[in-house]
Amino acid sequence: MIEIENRRYIGSKTQLSDWIFECINSQTRDCKSFCDIFAGTGIVSKKAIEIFEKVIINDFLFSNEVFYNAFFDNENYDKLKINKLIDRWNSIESDKISENYFSKNFGGKFFDHNHAKKIGFIREEINKNKSKFNNKELSILLTTLIYNIDRVSNTVGHFDAYIKKPIPKRELVFKSINSRKVRNVKIFREDANILAKKINTDIVYIDPPYNSRQYSRFYHIYENLVQWKKPELFGVALKPEAENMSKYCRITALNAFKELVNDLNAKYLVVSYNNTYSSKSSSSENKIKLEEIKEVLKSKGQTKVFNAPHKFFNAGKTDFKDHKEYLFITKVNEK
Ligand SMILES: C[S@@+](CC[C@H](N)C(=O)[O-])C[C@H]1O[C@@H](n2cnc3c(N)ncnc32)[C@H](O)[C@@H]1O
Repeated sequence: MIEIENRRYIGSKTQLSDWIFECINSQTRDCKSFCDIFAGTGIVSKKAIEIFEKVIINDFLFSNEVFYNAFFDNENYDKLKINKLIDRWNSIESDKISENYFSKNFGGKFFDHNHAKKIGFIREEINKNKSKFNNKELSILLTTLIYNIDRVSNTVGHFDAYIKKPIPKRELVFKSINSRKVRNVKIFREDANILAKKINTDIVYIDPPYNSRQYSRFYHIYENLVQWKKPELFGVALKPEAENMSKYCRITALNAFKELVNDLNAKYLVVSYNNTYSSKSSSSENKIKLEEIKEVLKSKGQTKVFNAPHKFFNAGKTDFKDHKEYLFITKVNEK
């Protein structure tokens, strides 16, 4: 069974989530609700669901919202109907299906051509039959499609570029996702700064992007598959017109962060901070400096900073040898 964390995602806290919750446990008291306001993969929310009575999960990407619905939303769904369909997907023979939007654009580039034909065909079939499924079922189908193709994409894990070498033969088998019905979760797809003005939770976990690399551009193929508007595509990486460009990836980042922290109504703010990229390229430079984060948080309340031990994230990759991972925890001053 595929779990929510079983995807490649830049900045995923899969390896760090135990450490993050150790720090949170040691510093917070009497907390019943939690908000993961830049949730990405949703791994932090997955842990929070086990601990808190109420969890809010938010990210502004269309694909992430669909994944959260598939793994967590509380709507009833017909497992048998979904499993039958997945079995059918596994019996599709690519030489018996025709070229389509997906194979014409991405075949032989981001995906093996035969895989791309299947992906486009399946996506079209989901679309044609969408009236037969409720929102949870549609989300499960799209998530099953995307999580399984993630494993066979011809990339280093995102869609900023494909690998320009012959695509190795890999089998595309669709496995089920471990979908659950979770009662205590509320799912949003909003700009974090807008949502911040409307919510009130004991803890808000804040993990924005810190450099100029936009997530909507990295994962444009999943945004495209989920929305299925078949947009015109541009450039070598075949991206559509830009949308969901984050303020946190621009020089406006510090102001956006100040506004967010100021607007949040919470007892504790927990902020992740890191330098995930090598310092060689300018796009990798952090838009907010460590000291600036500290200053903004201090204005809100007493702030402690923790440093993740290397064993949690260093998988021996040389690119990451200067990787530092910090966690700020602020106890917000009472008004
Ligand atoms: C560093 S990642 C979060 C990783 C996440 N903690 C995890 O473990 O997977 C930052 C996320 O913020 C989202 N994001 C960026 N700007 C946003 C905004 N203004 N509002 C909401 N989400 C935003 C991106 O789509 C991305 O998923």
